[in-house]
This record gives sequence, C-alpha cells and structure tokens, in this order.
Amino acid sequence: MERPTLYVTRLLPRPVLDSILGQYRMLTEPTDLPPKEEELRHGFAEAQAVICTLTDRIDASLLSQAKRLKIIANYAVGYNNIDLAAAAQRGIVVTNTPDVLTDATADLTWGLMLALMRRIVEGDAWVRTGTWPGWTPTQMLGADVSGKTLGIVGMGRIGQAVAQRAAGFRMPVIYAGRESVCNPPGISWVWRSLDEVVAESDCLSLHVPLTESTRHLIDRRKLALMKPTAYLINTSRGPVIDESALVSALEARTIAGAGLDVYEHEPTVHARLRSLPNVVLLPHLGSATLGTRVRMGFICLDNIAAVLGGRPAPNRVN
Ligand code: DGY
Repeated sequence: MERPTLYVTRLLPRPVLDSILGQYRMLTEPTDLPPKEEELRHGFAEAQAVICTLTDRIDASLLSQAKRLKIIANYAVGYNNIDLAAAAQRGIVVTNTPDVLTDATADLTWGLMLALMRRIVEGDAWVRTGTWPGWTPTQMLGADVSGKTLGIVGMGRIGQAVAQRAAGFRMPVIYAGRESVCNPPGISWVWRSLDEVVAESDCLSLHVPLTESTRHLIDRRKLALMKPTAYLINTSRGPVIDESALVSALEARTIAGAGLDVYEHEPTVHARLRSLPNVVLLPHLGSATLGTRVRMGFICLDNIAAVLGGRPAPNRVN
C-alpha cells in the first residue's frame, strides 16, 4: 500500500524523523531554514498531512491550493500562525502540541526571571573578560526574588506551572485572566483585574496566547502602571507587548528590566532593545529541550495518524 504523503517544513529531532521515515513518504528533505514560498506552496498542494512550525504563515491563499490536505499538525502549542477559519472551511483539521511543553516553558520562564533579577548573564560576561577584581559588598547588586509578588497574566497550563514554582520562592501570586483556576493545597493565588496585577507585581510574567484581543495587551499605558522597580518577563508571543513602548520604558527606567524569549517581529529584535543593559534576551527557547521537542513531534504524529486513519484528532484546535 502506498504511504501517505507528509510535508514537514523544518528539520525535526532525529527520533521524530526516524519515525516519519518508517511510516510516510516525505515530500522534501527538511532543513533548519524556513522553506521558500515556492516550496511551501508545493508542499501544501501535494501533501495529505503537514507538520509546520510557528514561524510558517499558513494563510487562506496557501490553503486554497491544499486540495489533498487533511491535517495541519502545528509543531507548537500556539497556533496564531494559522488561519483556522480558512482551514475549517476546507475541512482541514488543525492540531497543536499542548501539555508536553508546559514544564519546559515554565522552567525557562524562571530561568529568565532569575537571570534578569540577579544579573546572572551580566555577571557571567564580566568574569569571562578576566577583569573581575574580586568580591565587594556593593558589586552587581540585583533585586530580591524570594518573597516578592509574582504577577501572572494568563493562567492557563503554562501560567499555572509558573505559579506553582513560586511556592518554592515564597512568592505571593496574583493573576489576571480566567478566574476559575484551582489553587494547589496550601497555596493562595489571588485573582485581580489586569490593571491591578500590572500595578502590584514585582515581577510580571505573560502567558496568554496571541489573539486579536491580546495583541499589544501590554501597551504604553500598562507599562506606565508598573512599579519602577518591577520586571517584565515574556515567554508567550512577542506581539503581546508593544515593543517600542517597552524600549522607551526600559530606556527611561520607568520599569527595572525585561526578560524576553519572544519578540514582536521575530527574528528581528529591536536594535535599541539589543543595546540595553537591563534586559536578558533569549532566542525563543521556551520549549527547547530535546525531550520536549521529541514529545512535540510525536504528538504531531499521533494527530496525523488519527486523522488519516479516520479518527478524531486528540489535539484539534479548529
Ligand atoms: C509554542 O509551542 O507555542 C512555543 O512557543 C514553541 O517553543
């Protein structure tokens, strides 16, 4: 029997590729580079299933050529890169990879928070120059983390995983978003309005999906509400913050600093942001552990097997 055709837009971890090669006919040999427009169009026109990534823009025009396509398995939990309605109109199932990247993203959020507030990246760079003169009481003083108020915007899976880790730092958690989250025993998470969370947090961490209502959710006005001693962390999607307004706030020191894993115009990072000392900047590493990326691949494959086998996709989003 002929194997189903699968188009994979980007190189995936070896165990996932091996599994694909055993079951599908791959349309092209994926690489680490984004596919050229022409290749993307050919892939969507020919394949029965596609695995794509968050940087591939899947719009109505591309989907209009996808005559044989049954499923788009997005290799990400976020799916703002895909026109869901256009896919649904053509009967194409869209799936994502929830749960398996929750811990990795929450861990990285904490890494970013600690690196920023305790100036870890700056310290590492200094030691490497060979000019560190030795310990002094006033050297590289950062901000206390333990006991400070953590604000979470978006209390979904990742927001809750970040909040759970705050217990170890004895940090009270306030959050904005849906009200009905279930506090783990012995921990108090307090719901507040978005403005209150923004204004009261010592560290504000964003965990909302990118939608029309969350684009520039953190704008000039919200940044002005933040304490001058507060830090902003974003491991969700770049456009949730108005990046120009953030740069102005950081330059004027109306907030203390920002830890960013995502950017408004990825992979371009605002030039003035790159020159600021009070930021830690990562290259979208939220889910970047080998185990997580392998699990994400297998979720894509489970969803594809279900749809091509005539069963409901476990992680359908449209
Ligand atoms: C996601 O899955 O949405 C992440 O941003 C990928 O790292």
